[in-house]
Amino acid sequence: MNFNEAHDKLAKYGQEHLLKYYNRLSTESQKGLLSQIEGTDFSVTASVTNGIKEKPRGVITPIKAMTLDEINANREEFTKTGLETIRAGKAGAVLLAGGMGTRLGSDNPKGMYDIGITKPVYIFQRIIRNLLDVVDMAGTWIHLFIMTSDKNHESTTAFFKEQDYFTYNKDYIHFFKQDMAPAATYNGQVFMEDKDRIATSPNGNGGWYSSMQNAGITDFIHKTGIEWLNVFAVDNVLQRIADPCFIGATISRNCSVGAKVVRKADPDEKVGVMCLEDGRPSIVEYYEQTEQLRNTLDENGEPAYNFGVILNYLFREKELEEICNNELPLHIVEKKIPYMDEEGNFINPEKPNGYKFETLILDMIHMLDTCLPFEVDRNKEFAPIKNKTGADSIESARELLKENGIEL
Ligand code: UTP
Repeated sequence: MNFNEAHDKLAKYGQEHLLKYYNRLSTESQKGLLSQIEGTDFSVTASVTNGIKEKPRGVITPIKAMTLDEINANREEFTKTGLETIRAGKAGAVLLAGGMGTRLGSDNPKGMYDIGITKPVYIFQRIIRNLLDVVDMAGTWIHLFIMTSDKNHESTTAFFKEQDYFTYNKDYIHFFKQDMAPAATYNGQVFMEDKDRIATSPNGNGGWYSSMQNAGITDFIHKTGIEWLNVFAVDNVLQRIADPCFIGATISRNCSVGAKVVRKADPDEKVGVMCLEDGRPSIVEYYEQTEQLRNTLDENGEPAYNFGVILNYLFREKELEEICNNELPLHIVEKKIPYMDEEGNFINPEKPNGYKFETLILDMIHMLDTCLPFEVDRNKEFAPIKNKTGADSIESARELLKENGIEL
């Protein structure tokens, strides 16, 4: 892309200020900036400049989850189906590690965090260890796709190499970078990070499939014959990945997606709950859960919206291709965005100063016809690390790891 083309592209969205320093840059920096402009989708800013419109929610009704009792009664059969699927090479795993981990506040990628006490125990190490349990059980390697972002790709890949992939077969680990979205002021003006760099951030946890497509990973998936993708977050150090029983249950119920869920610890727990919205699977985020929703009971007198999602989903890949041709809704999120001010000073704000643009995995669920909420025991499979202390923290995860016999 040359200067004029970049200028025309920016002019469409009123973002010409991004070229303000162009003439003062070295040739290399000029090239870098033009290529960043070429690779960035500025259309997202129109959602601010045209006025933010939240789409109203549809009619919310309860969804039936497969409970632990039902799972235990069929565990053998589900596990058999799951193992057959894995051994046939039809299941892969996708680790979402493109996030910024701002709440944990570490300079390194979240997965590099050492949660050990007497010895190093890295988050990535726990994840690989958990996946190795299934590899050992199935007697076959499972392809693991790791999504990084522009911000953490080099450090993540270098770390895995340095740790010798935690004994995983490196031919089965594939890194790909998530697409980035520009960050903007409250008026929709894209921030600059430096004179030759636009402020961008990863485009949300719903960006994984289109980023896989753009990185050519889906071609590999089709060639290899992978049909199911188990997508999971980096921060749950107890989660089971490519869990044969979960895979078997989702297949046996002929669902497009399976969602691991936990019973809410208390009505106010900050987890999104599964539901139906206008008859389709959906999730009500914790901040959208009304008093009335929290108090609704089912026919057994149990809370009707009691199953929280833990960001561990099993998608039938074929259907993702179809839904990703339709655009996912864009979420506009207020965040602290480091930027360069008018005088060229770099500012690290202490409070939110603008918007980031994200797509969310939960909207992918809503675009599919069928979903199996699959209950797991929260004390065995849910130890998220979001914060340094308190709820969902390093402290709480350590307690749960110890409870599960894991040495730290
Ligand atoms: P969170 O929503 O908890 O975000 O991500 P985060 O970036 O890890 O942490 P905060 O909110 O900044 O403190 C849930 C999962 O989705 C991934 C994260 O890496 C994590 O595994 N994610 C999130 C991405 O891969 N890309 C994104 O753009 C956002």
